[in-house]
Amino acid sequence: MSLFDKIQATASFIKGKIKNQPDTGIILGSGLGGLIDMIEKETEIPYSEIPNFPLSTVQGHDGKLVFGKIGSRNVILMAGRFHYYEGYNMQEVTFPVRVMKALGVETLFVSNASGGTNPTFKIGDLMIINDHINLFPEHPLRGHNDERLGTRFPDMSAAYDKGLIALAKEIAAERNLEVREGVYTGLQGPTFETPSEYRWLYRNGGDAVGMSTVPEVIVARHGDMKVFAISVITDLGVTEVPVTITHQEVLEAANAAAPKMASLVATIIERM
Ligand code: HPA
Repeated sequence: MSLFDKIQATASFIKGKIKNQPDTGIILGSGLGGLIDMIEKETEIPYSEIPNFPLSTVQGHDGKLVFGKIGSRNVILMAGRFHYYEGYNMQEVTFPVRVMKALGVETLFVSNASGGTNPTFKIGDLMIINDHINLFPEHPLRGHNDERLGTRFPDMSAAYDKGLIALAKEIAAERNLEVREGVYTGLQGPTFETPSEYRWLYRNGGDAVGMSTVPEVIVARHGDMKVFAISVITDLGVTEVPVTITHQEVLEAANAAAPKMASLVATIIERM
């Protein structure tokens, strides 16, 4: 079956289970579950029931689609994403974004936990992503291009929607919520970076680093969706003394910052 036919099959399975066609998609990062509670829930579908969906394997990821409302928007939320380091190929990692597009999603919100490479950052900061650097070893659009899904050579000069970034900053200012803005570098992982890699990433224009987001954003832009993405800075690799990081610490820091991130994203969705 072609990728296009697989997407259609999965989308029509989902359409049979939901009341309202979603217009807004959300991908939740590690430890950032709080946004689920801001949805007036209508339907949940575990990934294990969805044809063509891979299964999520990482601790801290539930593995289900949640449908419902935030304000007047119909949202589809992915609780648990597929990471390249888990062994999925890029087509699998980004498949849910294709399905969102086929269901009618026009705007995609992406969140993640990331390491701060910018030395002015603190643990728990929120960083609005205004651009990315793609250092993944495989590209999600490599191979045959189906024009029904998007153009062969997508423009990436404004991947992160400027209007949504401005709205996010306006809402943050109203609340006296400090937000950072910067560039996210996407790497395959699963090792966290060495001190030299952190330094190198910062010198080369990255403010935060993580193992997700970039593939999904590329595919969303291929499908001409608007994108807003935000990082919670869960650890820093920029001190003079090398610091050790564990997945547990990343999850705890993400959990602590999740409520302010969730409330910011929910308000953007209500007001956009
Ligand atoms: N690198 C460093 N720190 C992190 C990452 C990463 O990929 N993800 C979350 N914290």
